[in-house]
Amino acid sequence: MEHNKSIVVLDFGGQYAHLIARRVRQCGVYSEIKDADTSAEELKNAAGIILSGGPQSVYDSKSSQGDPAIFDLGIPVFGICYGLQWMAKVLGGEVQQGEVKEYGKAKLKVENGKWKMIEGIPEEMQVWMSHGDEVTGLPEGFERVGTSVDCKNAFIADTSKNFYGVQFHPEVVHTEYGQILIENFVEKCAADPWSIKSYVDHVGDALKKEVGDRKVFMLVSGGVDSTVAFVLLNKVLGEDRVQGLYVDTGMMRKDETKQIDHAFKKLGIKNLRIEDASDYFIKKLAEVYEPEQKRWIIGDAFLSVQKRVSEEMNLKMEDGWMLGQGTIYPDTIETGETKNADKIKTHHNRIPEIQKMMKEGFVVEPLRELYKDEVRALGEELGLPHDLVWRHPFPGPGLGVRILCAQEPSVVSCQLSVVSDVSYSALPIKSVGVQGDGRSYRHAIALFSDQKFADEKCWDLATSIPNASEDFNRVLMCTSHESAPEFVFSPGYVTKERADLLREADAIVHDEMVKAGLYESIWQFPVVLLPFGTSEGGLSIVLRPVESQEAMTANAVDLPEKVVISMTQKLLKVEGVDLVFQDLTHKPPGTIEWE
Ligand code: XMP
Repeated sequence: MEHNKSIVVLDFGGQYAHLIARRVRQCGVYSEIKDADTSAEELKNAAGIILSGGPQSVYDSKSSQGDPAIFDLGIPVFGICYGLQWMAKVLGGEVQQGEVKEYGKAKLKVENGKWKMIEGIPEEMQVWMSHGDEVTGLPEGFERVGTSVDCKNAFIADTSKNFYGVQFHPEVVHTEYGQILIENFVEKCAADPWSIKSYVDHVGDALKKEVGDRKVFMLVSGGVDSTVAFVLLNKVLGEDRVQGLYVDTGMMRKDETKQIDHAFKKLGIKNLRIEDASDYFIKKLAEVYEPEQKRWIIGDAFLSVQKRVSEEMNLKMEDGWMLGQGTIYPDTIETGETKNADKIKTHHNRIPEIQKMMKEGFVVEPLRELYKDEVRALGEELGLPHDLVWRHPFPGPGLGVRILCAQEPSVVSCQLSVVSDVSYSALPIKSVGVQGDGRSYRHAIALFSDQKFADEKCWDLATSIPNASEDFNRVLMCTSHESAPEFVFSPGYVTKERADLLREADAIVHDEMVKAGLYESIWQFPVVLLPFGTSEGGLSIVLRPVESQEAMTANAVDLPEKVVISMTQKLLKVEGVDLVFQDLTHKPPGTIEWE
């Protein structure tokens, strides 16, 4: 899509680059992300440029470098962390390894309070740092604006040129007044206004241009993203140029297929075919244990079903049919598709065959620039019912990524210092996490206490254990047992029986959450099945409620005690469930899903 005067974020490889763009859009201005080395020529129409953080040192031979000519364009520039250091180096300043590395909270003191850029910002505020290097010599024309205890030049500016740089991260919520700082920068840029309303007006033309006289075959999962994308395509192109396909993979939630059918009929949408492919998917997953392999197989299976159905319906690529997907922006980032970001997990709509089709121009993704909350706003703008728009997100691979599979237990010993009245036990399985901007695959550890409920001490352990240990990226509270029982491992892969069991458990948790009035405040509540219990063939259930905005970071939710008790009691009544846990891990270090 074409945007005129937007603010461009140059991505030097930080996992938070996208958050900067998100924060700029919150100011009512369009922001897009481009590779760090985008040429100045390509950026000459930007209203402003923000240089993101990145994992390297500017002196590293492999570090990402931008085009120095961007500083001659006469456009305001705002460097953040690595972005600040790169700007300082290019403009003749000096960057060195700091005496102390700063991670996490720091106090910023504003020394020089005369500029608009710091309007609304107090003399002292909490900021969030994550750096080893720092700017030690200012480039000509720059002045120091603020300092932290361990970083002298934590905030610098050349106001005559509208160049600003901060060592801390204004885009994360832990930096107080970070959003105000971003707003102040945005005000300095002559950017065109942008909103979801204006997006709806423009996206229609852009989509028509992209699709041309072709037609779109769209995979619809019933989740918010693909539903909004499908309805948008119907509206822009007309029903006769769009065909939807909903695939029941056998890994959907209880009664999901019925609900989807009903919801679309109510919307008056007739061009959605519902296909039961559950046997096919479950068969494909037989004897598959490894998380990434599962994701690839599920992605491939979607594509095969889609191909088979399109053949049956005679919708051929050579007759102008292309594939539609409800991919949103964070899906792209987490697959490591941007040049400098690490790969955390492969989303099912980013498997190699789809990537190939994308390169050939056969895939249309109307929401690929949007974040979840923007998709929801768009859904409301399009007139979709509130309940559909505010459904909790559900991953494309469905319950498939919530059924942990293993042939044998993965054993690790834990030598952690004992905390009074809390005992712990390493669990015999591993899960995916995100640590230091990269993927981790480590064990989970469970805490046990008499009260079977996480108190403050347990929540602290949930942060401190993964920070201190190379073995663990997840911390759980056992809500069914006071002390660790002997775990009996149950080797297995995704089967109909396991999917049915998890479906039942998921439905129980969902009903309890709604009954307790928590559905709106919890962002997403995955329920996970682990391959061990206390008896032969027994299994465990994990409650994973999280609160989030964009799913890139998330907080584990501290559920009310009576809700935990009631969920646990009901789950223990399900045949085959021996143990219940609550996941206390935030993201990072854990991802929301377990694999
Ligand atoms: P993680 O587990 O990476 O998940 O913290 C972030 C968000 O993305 C959802 N998710 C997916 N959604 N296809 C999707 O459409 C996928 O393959 C996929 N994997 C994770 C997850 O449920 C959470 O909301």
